Amino acid sequence: MAETSVRELEAILLVGGQGTRLRPLTIGTPKPLLPTAGVPFLAHQLAQARAAGVRRIVFATSYRAEMFCEAFGDGSAFGLTLEYVTEETPLGTGGAIRNAAEALTCGPDAPVVVLNGDILSGHDIADQVARHVERGAALTLHLTEVEDPSRFGCVPTDDEGRVTAFLEKTPNPVTNRINAGCYVFTRSVIDTIPAGEVVSVERETFPGLIEAGALVLGYADASYWLDVGTPAAFVQGSRDLVLGRLPSPALPGPAGDLLALPGAVISPEAKVCEGTAVGARAAVHAGAKVTGSVLGDDCVVESEAIVADSVVGAGARVASGAVLRGAVVGDGAVVGPGNELLAGSRVWPGVVLPECAVRFSSDV
Ligand code: GDD
Ligand code: MG
Repeated sequence: MAETSVRELEAILLVGGQGTRLRPLTIGTPKPLLPTAGVPFLAHQLAQARAAGVRRIVFATSYRAEMFCEAFGDGSAFGLTLEYVTEETPLGTGGAIRNAAEALTCGPDAPVVVLNGDILSGHDIADQVARHVERGAALTLHLTEVEDPSRFGCVPTDDEGRVTAFLEKTPNPVTNRINAGCYVFTRSVIDTIPAGEVVSVERETFPGLIEAGALVLGYADASYWLDVGTPAAFVQGSRDLVLGRLPSPALPGPAGDLLALPGAVISPEAKVCEGTAVGARAAVHAGAKVTGSVLGDDCVVESEAIVADSVVGAGARVASGAVLRGAVVGDGAVVGPGNELLAGSRVWPGVVLPECAVRFSSDV
């Protein structure tokens, strides 16, 4: 048994979701490929998995499947072997894991890491695997604590760390401890998920295993953790990576107040800070202020504009004096002079917001 597991640790990466909550950013690009701190989001997860000893990863794809292979190829740039398996129609998290498992090479007793493809986590995956193997568990779930567990899988455990229930998105959570989206399965357990069917691990497989008395463990820790599934969380994730709050081997430069990709032109009279990532060839003009934001490739932020905690898509333009706070501007869109977009505002790709007649104060 140890022979297979030590030889080559394998993982399955779940990346088939549509990323609906991140529209319009995810209209053309799946959530796991959105530029985050200068690289596609998944680059951070791949580098971290590699550092934890994973050597081979099977991508479980569905939505815009071909784009993953275009982005990461055979994985050699990461020191990984990557395989791509595509569901013609989405099979749900459990069906996707079962389907992707066809491309695993390990034996039935080996541990297999399964990762949700929208998570930034500083936890020690290698230690999670080691604990799983040590205790001979069927399944070991990474757990973290959040303020509002109702949006996640709520996971109570007993004194020995054994999971006693799995309550997906329950309005009445019994603990703040939630499923953090990184699992270690014993391979043979994956093979018990029905093939070719839509299955949810959260609603079917996990509760079923617990009910059947299988050893399901929690691996709880308090390291950095974030699901980047909403615009606010996505911006926060990029910012935290740029600032070095979550160290990432994939960050294309030193951590600091600002990350600027090649060809970016930032006026010395502009202020760009608080973990902002500036895309390739993007321009920030004199007097503009950009804080904690993600600026896409080739976008322009004109003079005296204010961009705070926002995403500006590739090739978009934020005109002089416009204000964005917690907003998302799609690729190629134009926010005309004087517009003020507040938290939750979304501008669809290519849309042009004309100059706003009523000028807002641009004081901050
Ligand atoms: N291949 C494939 N096929 N992947 C899928 C499918 C599918 O049908 N459905 C979802 N996924 C992938 C998504 O791309 C994502 O990487 C992952 O599965 C989880 O889906 P989300 O849509 O992000 O789920 P969530 O954030 O609402 O909830 C999940 O994650 C929470 C932690 O962030 C659950 O696992 C919760 O229990 C958990 O707490
Ligand atoms: Mg999610």
